[in-house]
Amino acid sequence: MAKRNIVKIGDDVLRKVCRTQLTFDERLHQTLDDMAETMYDAEGVGLAAPQVGILRRYCVIDIGEGIIELINPVIFEKSEETQTGNEGCLSIPDRSEVVTRPMKVSVRAQNRYGENIVVTGEGLMARALCHEIEHLDGVLYIDHAKRSK
Ligand code: CO
Repeated sequence: MAKRNIVKIGDDVLRKVCRTQLTFDERLHQTLDDMAETMYDAEGVGLAAPQVGILRRYCVIDIGEGIIELINPVIFEKSEETQTGNEGCLSIPDRSEVVTRPMKVSVRAQNRYGENIVVTGEGLMARALCHEIEHLDGVLYIDHAKRSK
């Protein structure tokens, strides 16, 4: 495994719409392993592929309950109930903003072997899922924070 550089705000790569990941090979596995190492080293709870300069639809999340890898994730259900709290991003150092998110979301995705999975998260997990999946469409959490002001 190897640590990757985290792309910081101001880099266009964070604003691109990522493409579907179609291959589930050793190269993907290596990249996912590197992303996990990078996330843990930076003490983050999630990292999306564009944050390491890869414009593909996948991310890793660990809110302290073990690693979750999501390839081509799509949110298919959101609770009406919301949560409002502080959010940060490894690509936007030394900053946090209050963002309102659904309390609970369900996500359809694939795992590293291309098998279909469903992940449901509440609270911090729901927040992390929303945050990381938005990265895949070039959206950053500060976009919400600005809108709510
Ligand atoms: Co982020």
